[in-house]
Amino acid sequence: MCGIVGYVGGKQAAPVLLQGLSKLEYRGYDSAGLAVRNGEDPAVVVKTTGKLNNLIEKTDEGRAVPGTCGIGHTRWATHGAPSRTNAHPHVSGNCSGSGSGVVESEVVGVHNGIIENFQELKAKMERHDYRFYSETDTEVLIKLVDYYYNKYKMGPIDALAKTIVRVRGSYALAVMFSDYPGKIFAARKESPMIIGVNEGESFIASDVPAILQHTRNVYYIGNLEMAEISAGEVTFYNLDGDVVEKEATTIEWDAEAAEKGGYEHFMMKEIHEQPRVVMDTLKKYIKGEGEKLSVDLSETGLTKEMIASFPAIYIVACGSAWHVGMEAQYVLEEMCDIQVRVELASEFRYRKNRLQTGALVIIISQSGETADSLAALRMAKEKGLTTLAIVNVLDSSIAREADHCMYTLAGPEISVATTKAYSCQLVCMFMLALAFAKERGTIEGYENYISELLTIPEKMKKVLDDKERIQWFASKYSNARDIFFIGRGIDYAICLEGSLKMKEISYIHSEAYAAGEMKHGTISLIEDQTLVIGVLTQNDLYEKTISNMMECKSRGAYLMGITAYGKYDVEDSVNFAVYIPKVDEHFTGSLAIIPLQLLAYYLSVSKGLDVDKPRNLAKSVTVE
Ligand code: AGP
Repeated sequence: MCGIVGYVGGKQAAPVLLQGLSKLEYRGYDSAGLAVRNGEDPAVVVKTTGKLNNLIEKTDEGRAVPGTCGIGHTRWATHGAPSRTNAHPHVSGNCSGSGSGVVESEVVGVHNGIIENFQELKAKMERHDYRFYSETDTEVLIKLVDYYYNKYKMGPIDALAKTIVRVRGSYALAVMFSDYPGKIFAARKESPMIIGVNEGESFIASDVPAILQHTRNVYYIGNLEMAEISAGEVTFYNLDGDVVEKEATTIEWDAEAAEKGGYEHFMMKEIHEQPRVVMDTLKKYIKGEGEKLSVDLSETGLTKEMIASFPAIYIVACGSAWHVGMEAQYVLEEMCDIQVRVELASEFRYRKNRLQTGALVIIISQSGETADSLAALRMAKEKGLTTLAIVNVLDSSIAREADHCMYTLAGPEISVATTKAYSCQLVCMFMLALAFAKERGTIEGYENYISELLTIPEKMKKVLDDKERIQWFASKYSNARDIFFIGRGIDYAICLEGSLKMKEISYIHSEAYAAGEMKHGTISLIEDQTLVIGVLTQNDLYEKTISNMMECKSRGAYLMGITAYGKYDVEDSVNFAVYIPKVDEHFTGSLAIIPLQLLAYYLSVSKGLDVDKPRNLAKSVTVE
């Protein structure tokens, strides 16, 4: 949801900003802009619509905008359509704000987040003779900073503090004041922002990959905190204007992990990383060898006593992370004999439901910044429930605020469509299920299950080896209008994720259906050659789902079936069969999802779409 960057140091700022923005484009890509100051000169602003390349071209790769201090932005529109006028940076002056050039404004800034009371603030500012050129909440925010700066004349930090107190919503804000050359000021509430410091230079970014090439030394700016950033230095302040001391954190991520590494798209690279990152995640929590294997959750702070005593579990998440919860529900209920409810975070947070006292709430999130998941976490905490976060991004808001945190080791995931983070979340849930089952005395063969989990990465590689068949199949279906994914139980949960992958990157309408539900209405959509994909990994449900697929076939459907090697005579029934290696049936999702990821990928490529940055989407959804 918008990416922001900032740079001040000895280098030319614009190329650094553009390079940083290229790593953040996954956060939004409907327009981009930057503002750069050359010494004491006023800022020069350049804005373009569409992808970042337009800005790169317009600024001659940054050369056309000299100066060593600047801010940049890539936008995912919330208030106001994607246009040059609505693109950031925004300025405090009463100008047209539409184009590029020197800006004689007091304040120029970029923002990620949403200002909920911007209408009310806009009316107030209009009464003070401010004129607005855009439809954005950000312009209101920048003008409010300018208002307090001029009214009280107590400097940028004071102006930011007064602004923060007045606005409702979320923001990561970076601004330059014309009176303060060589400095950027930042403020944050809810939306992510990090500050990197090197010798003689400083960086601001919404996410780690944007600055990884320059520094691993980062500071996390806290909620309702502000920062004054100059070349190689940063000072943090609280709302009272007092200095806040902070320790830098060293980022361990490999810079290469945030690059495409020879693949055409990040998504394909991330699909191929799954065996490695899943093994990394398993090894983080599985300890011992041979018959002494165990899942060790001590790092999360969850004790054996706690695990044994939770009366129920709520799993709360959005999108693919919610699909992980759906799949885990079957595994947890079966292995641990515990009541599990899976909720969409956007629904959960407004439900007036009575939650079971003493229950555990598990929030699953790759980014750790998803607004609805964060709000759900806070709601659960307010109700006195214990919270556990399963998160990929280190020190993200959800990771910090949850009582307990289990990290996935997926590394930076850049493609908007999640693959490797999803797979890591899934194995975390499997490990949790095993740990819970052990402590609650509801499992036999605990060590065998763990050994089985450890076979998943090798088996994932085998599925990937077969990708050409999927590619061939995809080439036949690039004109498909509708695709249906059907399955029962765990297979239904796999279908939910397969269908979302398909929709989000290939723009083909698809639906995931519990196989038995088709004939309650949806089967009327089946026409000649409609593709129906059946997921058939569960022994006792195999025949039922096959029957449902045959009902579709009799109405003209073309059938693809995914099942385990050599297990069934699936080819007697379906037109195209895909096999995954055998694995314990609780864990089949880790393997069966890969052909579906690949199918969505190849269909998107064959349609010539932007796989990594599908239209209308952003990687982390930090607005409601
Ligand atoms: C899936 O491919 C999507 N990008 C999306 O559904 C995502 O899983 C969802 O927005 C949740 O994000 P999070 O894991 O960062 O909370």
